[in-house]
Amino acid sequence: MRPYCAAIRRAYFLAMVEFTLALGDPAATAQFGRALAARLRAGDVVALSGPLGAGKTTLARAIIGELTTASEAPSPTFTLVETYEAKDFALHHFDLYRLEKADDVFELGYEDALDGVCLIEWPERIERLLPADTLVIRLAMDGAARRALVRGAGDWRQRLAGLNPA
Ligand SMILES: Nc1ncnc2c1ncn2[C@@H]1O[C@H](COP(=O)(O)OP(=O)(O)OP(=O)(O)O)[C@@H](O)[C@H]1O
Ligand SMILES: [Mg+2]
Repeated sequence: MRPYCAAIRRAYFLAMVEFTLALGDPAATAQFGRALAARLRAGDVVALSGPLGAGKTTLARAIIGELTTASEAPSPTFTLVETYEAKDFALHHFDLYRLEKADDVFELGYEDALDGVCLIEWPERIERLLPADTLVIRLAMDGAARRALVRGAGDWRQRLAGLNPA
C-alpha cells in the first residue's frame, strides 16, 4: 500500500464512530430510521447489513417514508433498486441479495446513484465498490428484538451526534 493511502486510511480510522443501539421492536427500528433520515445528504451511502429478517427493509422504509411522499415503498427484491425523489436528492433503495457479481451493480445505475443517497441492503455483494465513508449499519437478532451496530468514518461522528448513546 502506498504511504499516502495508509495515511488516509489512518485518518479515517481515527475519525471513526461506532456504537450500538438496542431496537426493542419494529417501531424502534422505524424511529431510528427517521432520526437517520434527518441527517442524510446527497452523496451518502448507507449500508444496511445483517441476516435475513434482521430489519433492513424496515429501516429503509422508515427513511423513505420520512424523506419522500411515497405512499408505499415496495421491497426491491426483484427490481434490485427502487428510486424516490426526496426534497434535495434522489433516494435509491438497493436490495442486492440477488446480484450475481459486483460489477452488475453498474447496470442498475450505481454510478449516477452515488450523486444522490443510496440505501443498500446486502452491501457485501459490492464490498469493494462502497465508498470509504459509507455508513455501515449492521443489524442483528437479539432474541425477538434487534440490535444495530452503527459505524462510520469521515464526518459521521459529528453528524450522528445525538444518536450515539455513549
Ligand atoms: N427492532 C425490531 N424488533 C423486532 N422485530 C423487528 C424489528 N425491526 C424489524 N422487525 C421485524 O423483522 C421482520 C423482518 O424485517 P425486514 O423485512 O425489514 O428484514 P430484512 O432484513 O429486510 O429481511 P430480508 O433479508 O429478507 O430482506 C419484520 O416482521 C419486521 O417487522
Ligand atoms: Mg429486506
